[in-house]
Amino acid sequence: MVSIGIIGAGGIASAHAGAIRAQTGRCRLDAVYDADDTAAAAFCERFADLGPAAAASADELFARRLDAVIICTPNHLHLEYVQQAAEHGLAILCEKPAANTLGAAHAMAQIARRTGVVTMVGFTNRYQPGIRKLRYAMESGLLGTIFAYRELSSGARLVNPSIGMEWRMRDWDAGGGAVADFGVHSLDMATWLLADSCGPLHSLTGMLGTFVKRDGRYPQNDDLSVVTGRFASGAIASLMDSRVGPGLYQVDVMGSLGHAHFDLRQNAELDLRLYQSQGEAVALPDFSPSGPFEAQLGALLDAIETGRPATPDLVRAYEIQRLIERVRDHAV
Ligand SMILES: NC(=O)c1ccc[n+]([C@@H]2O[C@H](COP(=O)([O-])OP(=O)(O)OC[C@H]3O[C@@H](n4cnc5c(N)ncnc54)[C@H](O)[C@@H]3O)[C@@H](O)[C@H]2O)c1
Repeated sequence: MVSIGIIGAGGIASAHAGAIRAQTGRCRLDAVYDADDTAAAAFCERFADLGPAAAASADELFARRLDAVIICTPNHLHLEYVQQAAEHGLAILCEKPAANTLGAAHAMAQIARRTGVVTMVGFTNRYQPGIRKLRYAMESGLLGTIFAYRELSSGARLVNPSIGMEWRMRDWDAGGGAVADFGVHSLDMATWLLADSCGPLHSLTGMLGTFVKRDGRYPQNDDLSVVTGRFASGAIASLMDSRVGPGLYQVDVMGSLGHAHFDLRQNAELDLRLYQSQGEAVALPDFSPSGPFEAQLGALLDAIETGRPATPDLVRAYEIQRLIERVRDHAV
């Protein structure tokens, strides 16, 4: 039975606690720490059936006999908690983006390499059932030679201008805006799905824009990013990430034999059509219908139980952070 602690009891911590609940019997939630006592208390009440104890400090949480910790704080705090967790020999699931700066992401990758603890970064979209079908289609070469990859990702919560300046909108706490918050998923997805067929992603260029004032001034980072890139094979990628749009997540892959379309609104599905069969939809094997956070936690538990490395780990997170920072440095 894997004993888990959560640090940071805000929005995403609830999704992780839900995943723990779904795997009761294999793991348990023993401790929670949040710098805000009220947030920790509310969280413990919401997940009272799991019986987590609120720790008064991070040190107190780490003093418990945990096997793993899930880090759900604002981005600039990930490094210090990764460091402490690794010192205690715990497996780590760190939320994305791994860090607020490239240097911090590099330090986290070094910690992972040096200590050999199991690490994972929360590239949760990889675990959408429809995305697993897409990965299968890519591995099976069903689409032929890949020409193009397109992704549209956008979140609706922050389009509301009455939501004030929060940590996500500050350079130091967050790093990039949409380009990091959403773009980290997009860059991981594109380079993970197309790695074998198209090689590495080169020639990244991007445009960043900030559009919605908060408390009478603009956020320090971007609301929207548009990134284009070319893979070693010549295939072209186009990624649009926005924190001020409708809640959407769509992926398209176009190849010489067909086209695949994923839409989060039908997250278990993949619309795959081959040109030779008059555009008829192709049936694909069904992968486990479990939700993405549950599947992600399952992968972490597999790694802990078998002693094998987890993926995507903090070394992978650093690779993606390099792409984000390249876009931010050269964006127009
Ligand atoms: N995987 C995903 O798809 C996904 C989705 C949303 C958020 N996230 C990531 O999860 C992380 C948290 O995001 P969120 O939406 O839950 O933010 P949030 O603001 O809702 O929650 C953050 C929590 O951290 C607490 N906190 C602040 N400083 C702390 C400290 N020093 N020690 C302990 N706790 C502290 C806050 O009090 C708050 O409760 C971010 O890295 C974010 O990018 C990932």
